[in-house]
Amino acid sequence: MASERFLSVSDVSVRFGGLAALSSFSFDMREGAIHGLIGPNGAGKSTLFNVIAGLLQPSAGEVFFRGRSIQRDPRHRRVHLGIARTFQNLQIFRDLTVLENVMVGCHSRFRCGFWSSIARPPHQRREEQQIREIAMQKLEQTRLQSMAHVLAGNLSFGQAKILEIARALAADPKLLMLDEPVAGVPHAEVGHMMDVIKGINAAGVSVLLVEHNMNFVMKLCDDIVVLNYGRKISEGSTGQVKADPAVLQAYLGEEPVDA
Ligand SMILES: Nc1ncnc2c1ncn2[C@@H]1O[C@H](COP(=O)(O)OP(=O)(O)O)[C@@H](O)[C@H]1O
Ligand SMILES: [Mg+2]
Repeated sequence: MASERFLSVSDVSVRFGGLAALSSFSFDMREGAIHGLIGPNGAGKSTLFNVIAGLLQPSAGEVFFRGRSIQRDPRHRRVHLGIARTFQNLQIFRDLTVLENVMVGCHSRFRCGFWSSIARPPHQRREEQQIREIAMQKLEQTRLQSMAHVLAGNLSFGQAKILEIARALAADPKLLMLDEPVAGVPHAEVGHMMDVIKGINAAGVSVLLVEHNMNFVMKLCDDIVVLNYGRKISEGSTGQVKADPAVLQAYLGEEPVDA
């Protein structure tokens, strides 16, 4: 089925010196899913995101997106193809407003970016207006519109993590990769993040999600793949993965899977 080839990671290996961060790792993600990628610290999850986004060339293997290899596509081309991501560590411009932060993310869709458009005279600013409108839509989609003119540095941590997602959405992705969206987010804000991600998915964006908060993962994801030491140790529905002894074993000494 064509949808099964939405995202396909085939035998990918990444080495950092003597360390195998990913070893012949393969997995398929279907279009429309919220797919969880879990595993203990150092398992290779962020490395896989970097490979899919084009920040890292694997030493072996290939990534297919929507039926074709994206191996030779540089990072910006993958954004155009519909792959967007957030980073494990918060990356926002604290001295820009919330709206401006999202406008920065829109630049990939336009010939001239946010930074050059603000330096242009008023009659050349139609593009900036368009960017502003798209950014505002993304803030509405992530329920941050009431904060549009607040400096990003004044947001709560949970809101700032949502702002990063709004900025990633500015590129109109088909696949959104979220690296630990609720790490460090206070419990009271976690439910809101879950609703935002569900809403994005319901609007047609497939989501690949790395997260250590197992309650969050189990509630949100349709399918899960589990990495440990760069290798796939389990995959399937949340129920299957939760009951897999190999997963419980990998998490011994970490937080319990049912936490
Ligand atoms: N740029 C790098 N240089 C050297 N080692 C790295 C680099 N990035 C990641 N690693 C190592 O690769 C392994 C996988 O890292 P990472 O993908 O960040 O794990 P995870 O996101 O699952 O916690 C770890 O042992 C990490 O220390
Ligand atoms: Mg990581």
